[in-house]
Amino acid sequence: MRARKKKNTPERLLKYSHLFINKENRDEAFFENKKIKIEIGCGKGAFISQSALLEPDVAFVGIEKVSDVIATAAVKTDECGAKNIRLLMADASELCDYFSDHSIDTVYLNFSDPWPPNNRAKRRLTHRGFLEIYKRLLTEDGRLEFKTDNDKLFDFSVDEISSNGFEITYLTRDLHSENVPNVVTEYEARFSQEGVPIKKLVAVLKK
Ligand SMILES: C[S@@+](CC[C@H](N)C(=O)[O-])C[C@H]1O[C@@H](n2cnc3c(N)ncnc32)[C@H](O)[C@@H]1O
Repeated sequence: MRARKKKNTPERLLKYSHLFINKENRDEAFFENKKIKIEIGCGKGAFISQSALLEPDVAFVGIEKVSDVIATAAVKTDECGAKNIRLLMADASELCDYFSDHSIDTVYLNFSDPWPPNNRAKRRLTHRGFLEIYKRLLTEDGRLEFKTDNDKLFDFSVDEISSNGFEITYLTRDLHSENVPNVVTEYEARFSQEGVPIKKLVAVLKK
């Protein structure tokens, strides 16, 4: 996501610092006895804020590496009124520094950057390197949910996920034609308005 540089990012990060976890403060009391669901690459926070309102007993964490973008997610988190969201400004590769092994119920990857050239495949959030991290973090019954507009990234992800310790339990190449519950993300709204079919898969750990 290319965001225009916003001058007030440091002020917004400071104003909403109580919504953030970091290495010094993991806010363990917030997570106690709760299911944890995380969105990696949460962008401006539309998905995480709607999801948190729908499931108030779940602890949601929006993870985003770009400061301007997560500062906007912080404003949205505050405005939506949900009390069950925390934010983490970090790269997905660092997640094991913040979460205990087998502590996460669901990893959401929504409209992850496709990184088209093959020599950049390692940066895709469905690359086997990241899948190893999710396998470590997910509970035994945990799940990975992935949505994208991008056919090539979807095909890559189906192969990568099914050949690296996960079993795909749901797959559609046109999510919006199906009668299933769905929380629409910012990118999803944009792509579906343009008529691009939304692809989705759900995967669980192979037993
Ligand atoms: C295309 S946007 C999608 C945003 C949102 N999930 C949506 O569906 O509207 C992808 C986001 O993922 C973030 N991102 C990409 N790679 C990441 C990584 N390795 N760790 C954390 N965030 C990442 C980008 O900064 C960007 O904000």
